[in-house]
Amino acid sequence: MSSRIVIDAERVAGEIDPKLFGGFLEHLGRAIYEGIYDPGSKLSDERGFRLDTLAALRELGATIIRYPGGNFLSGYHFLDAIGPKEKSPVRRELAWRSTETNQFGPDEFITYCRELNTEPMLGVNLGTGTIEEAGAFVEYCNAPGGTYYGDLRISHGYPDPHGVTYWCLGNEMDGPWQIGHLEAEEYARKAREAAKIMRLHDPSLKLILCGSSHLNMPTFPEWDRISLETCWDQVDYLSLHHYTANREGDTASYLARAFDFEAHINNLTATLGYVKARLRSRHDVYLSWDEWNVWYREHGGDGAWAEAPHLLEEIYNLEDALVVAQWMNVFLRHSRVLKIACLAQLVNVIAPILTRPEGLIKQSIFYPFQFFRQYAVGTSLDALVKCPTYECRQYGAVPVLDVSASWDEGSGKWSVFAVNRRMEGPEAVELEVRGMADHGPVGVIQLAGNDPKAANTFEQPNAVAPTSLGAHALQDGKLSLSLPPMSFTVITS
Ligand code: AHR
Repeated sequence: MSSRIVIDAERVAGEIDPKLFGGFLEHLGRAIYEGIYDPGSKLSDERGFRLDTLAALRELGATIIRYPGGNFLSGYHFLDAIGPKEKSPVRRELAWRSTETNQFGPDEFITYCRELNTEPMLGVNLGTGTIEEAGAFVEYCNAPGGTYYGDLRISHGYPDPHGVTYWCLGNEMDGPWQIGHLEAEEYARKAREAAKIMRLHDPSLKLILCGSSHLNMPTFPEWDRISLETCWDQVDYLSLHHYTANREGDTASYLARAFDFEAHINNLTATLGYVKARLRSRHDVYLSWDEWNVWYREHGGDGAWAEAPHLLEEIYNLEDALVVAQWMNVFLRHSRVLKIACLAQLVNVIAPILTRPEGLIKQSIFYPFQFFRQYAVGTSLDALVKCPTYECRQYGAVPVLDVSASWDEGSGKWSVFAVNRRMEGPEAVELEVRGMADHGPVGVIQLAGNDPKAANTFEQPNAVAPTSLGAHALQDGKLSLSLPPMSFTVITS
C-alpha cells in the first residue's frame, strides 16, 4: 500500500511570508571578514566584497538578513564602524574574544543587502548599549539630513536614508553568557523604552522583542510572557532561537527533530495567545525564528584575540540537510504565526557557504533552503498525509514522511516538500492534487543518498547535491512516486 499525500487549494494553513527565508551574518569568526568582505582577495571587487560569495548568496536567495549579531551585538557600538575606515577603532570583541577592526559596518552592510536585493534587519545593543544609542542608530540609518546623525550619514557618502524597517531589540538577553545579561523584568523595561525612542525617530519600524534564547532555558516561557506583557503594544515580533544536534549519533531519532520544532513553536504560539487575551488587545505579535540551524560539532567560541579566527566552521552532511528541510516544513505548517526566520548563519560560521582564499563550496544544507526559497510561494496548505511509522529511541513511533505544501493562486503554481525519514527502503507515495486547475507536467527535484554522514568538501564539492528527476505527468490529478530512503523531494508545478 502506498502512502498518501493530498493537497487541496481550499485547505489553507497560512500566508507564507517571504521573510521566512532569511539569513544571519554576525561579526563572528570568518563570517564577515574573509567570508563576505575581503579587500585583499583577488576574488573581491573594489568595495572589498567577495564576488564568489555574493554570487552564492544570490543563488541561495535569503530575503532578509539579520546583522551584526548575535552575541556580538551586546558589546557593539555602531559609531565605531561608520565613517573613514582608517579612523575606525580596533576593539577587543568580548563575546567571541576576537579582535574587531570595524572595517565593515552598517553602511557597508546596507550596501551589501541592496546588492543582494534583500531586506536588512539590524539590531540595537541592549547589553552594554543605552536606549539613547538605540535611538541614535535609528536616526543615523533612517533620518533625512538636517539633524546630527542624518547629516553624519550623509557626510559618509550616503545621501539617502537607508530606510531600515526591521530592528531587533537586543540579542538573547535572557542568557547568562550575554554581555549585559538582564533579568526578564529589567530587559522588558529597557526594551520598551528603547522601542519608544526608536519609534519616535521612525514610527514605521517593525520591532522584534527578544524571546528566550532556547527552549531549555530555565526561564522559558516565563521570560517570554513577562517581556511580551510589558512590551506588547510596542513590538511586532517575538524572537525564538533554536539549534539542534545529533550528539548521540542516533540518526533515526535525529531525523524526527521536527517534533521539537513543532513543540517549540506551539508553546510560543500559546504564550502569544495568552498574553493577547490577558491584555484584551487587538494588536497581534508574530514569531521571528531569527536563529535556527544544526550546530553541535564546532562549539569553541574563543578567538584568542585573533582577527577573523576560524570559529564554528561546522561541516554539514546529508542527515543535517534532511533536518533543515523538515525545519522549513515546520515553517510552512506554522506560517499563520511565524513570519520571519533567519538561518544562522550564512557564511563560514555554521553556514551553508564555506569559503577559502581560493574559492567556496556549498554545504548540504544550502539546497533545502534554496528550494523552499524558490518554490514555497503564496499560501501554505494543510496537507493530508497518511503513511506508516517507524520506531526510534527518542520519540517512539514517528511517521516516515514529513510534508509541507504551498499554493500560489496568482501564478497557479503549487509545490510539495517531502522528507522520507526512513533510513532503509523507499516509500511509495501517491500524491493527489485538488482544486488547482493546471495539471500539466510537474518537476521533481531530489536530495538523497545512502550515507547520512556524506558531506561536501573542497575536494568533493558535489558529494551531496540535488538531482532533477525531470518532468512527470499527473493522471487525473494524481502522481505516483517512489521516495528513496533518507531523501528530500520537491514536486513543483
Ligand atoms: O549564531 C551563533 C550564536 O548563537 C549567536 O551569536 C547567539 O545569538 C547564539 O547563541
